[in-house]
Amino acid sequence: MLKKILGGLGSSEKFEIPAHDSLLFKDIKWDRLPRHVAVIMDGNGRWATGKGLLRTAGHTAGVKTLKNILKTAIGLKLDALTVYAFSTENWKRPRPEVDFLMQLFSDYLKKELQEMHEDNVQIHFIGRIDGLPASLQKQMREAETLMQHNTGVKFNVAANYGGQDEILRAVQSLAAKVAAGELRPEEITEQAIDDALDTRGNLPVDLVIRTSGDERLSNFLLWQSAYAEFYFTKVNWPDFTPADFVAAMVDFAGRNRRFGGLKNQ
Ligand code: IPE
Ligand code: IPE
Ligand code: MG
Repeated sequence: MLKKILGGLGSSEKFEIPAHDSLLFKDIKWDRLPRHVAVIMDGNGRWATGKGLLRTAGHTAGVKTLKNILKTAIGLKLDALTVYAFSTENWKRPRPEVDFLMQLFSDYLKKELQEMHEDNVQIHFIGRIDGLPASLQKQMREAETLMQHNTGVKFNVAANYGGQDEILRAVQSLAAKVAAGELRPEEITEQAIDDALDTRGNLPVDLVIRTSGDERLSNFLLWQSAYAEFYFTKVNWPDFTPADFVAAMVDFAGRNRRFGGLKNQ
């Protein structure tokens, strides 16, 4: 049974929210969990081409991973899970791949909406949402509205997201308030910037996970990750299991976060 949990799931199996005393969580230190975890879901293309499949097959497989990791985050009672789905730079990809991804996001929302709602998830989209297809924007807004009073994990999906673009938009909105006489320059504090970002209301990121071996941020959550821990794994996103996610939590629990001070806090 343990092997089954740790070794991944067969394609037809449904992964349920793991219970607190689940075997999957046996090594978890509950008082040393990150509260906000951000994930750069990378390696879909490499996973697919390595199997002689089209890159798009990797994106489809990646959706299943996302579903299982969200369930795991719920079981861990994380405060927030923020995932990188599409960057402001990903428009550089061939048009058919971009179109496929947009359709995949739409299908994912259609298919998973009700179950996420039943799981008490609060979904929120971050990024330049108005640059996405109109029908997808509508689905996103409807999903946010449906789940706005939920109290479970904050599930932030970064779509058409760039950290620099987010900061730029925040600066523009603050500057507009200053120009309108609604805000004095000295009132632009770190908190004011936090509140002007798409992630307003979230805690700072404690842990950034990136799959598939590359070790960079690729313009993800630049402000919010100021003091995040980083966890890199060579596993491609479609192969990333709940046990791999738990391994990142266990690794995080052993980190000594000093925040510029001297003591273990
Ligand atoms: C991540 O996988 C998904 C998106 C960027 C949408 P990639 O598509 O980047 O996969 P690789 O990095 O090419 O293997
Ligand atoms: C980052 O991955 C974006 C997402 C995971 C959505 P990329 O594959 O686009 O990043 P680079 O090109 O390797 O930096
Ligand atoms: Mg990539």
